[in-house]
Amino acid sequence: MALAQKDNKKRATWGSKLGFILAAAGSAVGLGNIWKFPYVTGENGGGLFVIICVLCVLLVGIPIMAAEIMIGRRGQGSPVTAYENLRGNKSLWKLLGWVGVVAGFIILSYYVVVAGWTLDYLFKALSGAFWAVETEQIPPMFDSLYASAFWNVTWMLVFMCFTIGVVIGGVQAGIERWNGVLMPALFLMLIGLLIFAATLDGFGEAMRFVFYPDPSRFNGASSVLAAVGQAFFSLSLGMGAMLTYGSYLEKDADILRSAAIISVLDITVALMAACILFPVIFTFGFEPSAGPGLVFKTLPVIFSQLPGGRIVAIVFFTLLLFAAVTSSVSLLEVVGSTVMERLGWGRKPSVLASGLVIGIFGLLSALSGSALSGVKLLGDRNIFDSFDFLAAECMLPLGGIGIAVFAGWVLQKKEAKDEFESGAKTPQLFPFWRILVQFVAPAAVALVFVQTVLSLFTGAEVIH
Ligand code: PHE
Repeated sequence: MALAQKDNKKRATWGSKLGFILAAAGSAVGLGNIWKFPYVTGENGGGLFVIICVLCVLLVGIPIMAAEIMIGRRGQGSPVTAYENLRGNKSLWKLLGWVGVVAGFIILSYYVVVAGWTLDYLFKALSGAFWAVETEQIPPMFDSLYASAFWNVTWMLVFMCFTIGVVIGGVQAGIERWNGVLMPALFLMLIGLLIFAATLDGFGEAMRFVFYPDPSRFNGASSVLAAVGQAFFSLSLGMGAMLTYGSYLEKDADILRSAAIISVLDITVALMAACILFPVIFTFGFEPSAGPGLVFKTLPVIFSQLPGGRIVAIVFFTLLLFAAVTSSVSLLEVVGSTVMERLGWGRKPSVLASGLVIGIFGLLSALSGSALSGVKLLGDRNIFDSFDFLAAECMLPLGGIGIAVFAGWVLQKKEAKDEFESGAKTPQLFPFWRILVQFVAPAAVALVFVQTVLSLFTGAEVIH
């Protein structure tokens, strides 16, 4: 079937199927797994939240990821162009693409700030800062960093330049090459840290917290929404990152299988991060609900106790940084490739301009702990938290519903089947996947939304 390819230039493709899986897994595995998952788990009471997250990944995440990759591969474009190629210039579905691009813009603008903290901590590890002080003095280092306008802005800009550099390199030479080395290294490092965490006294208590469902510590509808939002954020779903990566995928790759591998890898890394952090938290008596600073307050404590901890700390923050780069790269790729396709600019100016504008917008988040700390946008949340809430808990799940509806109802059954089966080793799963995207995934996400809105009206606490 002829695809609406607008120009004669051949679209970039991945060098290999494994290259795609690693790049997509690189997009999924990032700060969302190691920084965000443990702290939202802490805020939402542990076990039950974790179980709901895993269920979301399996029942909603995998089918929607397959839908996103499918729309990208069939639509041959970044989000807006892909919907246009599939349903025509005038189709309103284009708007779904634009919502994704805006979500990517917002997420990247605060993602680079957190990645900047990682850079700061790498330098602290290199300079030996954690070893020069008492253990109790390590956690407050994060609060000082958060309150420093200068360092937040500086690190954020440095990180943004790094991201721009990779994305300018293009699909194979930039994105694919970096991911292929960094992802396996991160995984090995996490296994090592997990073995160490298992030797800590608080390991048993931590495992109970992370895996044992205790409804009394759960926050009702708002925790369920947080779990859905976390699943989408962590899997890079709902805004077109997987769609854009899917658009570089060859026809002989198995979409459902790729989605399953990427999702399982992603949730595994998140669970590993929680199993590393919570033993430290319980062993050293930290507060699990400490919020966005959790990883930065707790991990350096292990490093400071560990023989050879300095090397481990340096390696760990380097890898965390790379995990962050491989995700931020996918965010910038969505915005940059949209500029490329919509304005017809080359890759370099498109990516540079997008990165620059997002960096400037990112100043708002970078200054959330200092100059702008008094500004509250949504409820009690400062600018940083508001952007995170808006993008991760509202735009991504809503985008996910849109993607599921598009793949399940708007694409004709024949089109969807054709694309699903192309390269598939288990084409017989098509009806099963279709039921999930037609009914289960959109209904589940919509239900959570309605619940949360209702609980807003009944006065239940929604802020997590
Ligand atoms: N999934 C990434 C992470 O967990 C963040 C991300 C979200 C990347 C959305 C792309 C799109 O760090």
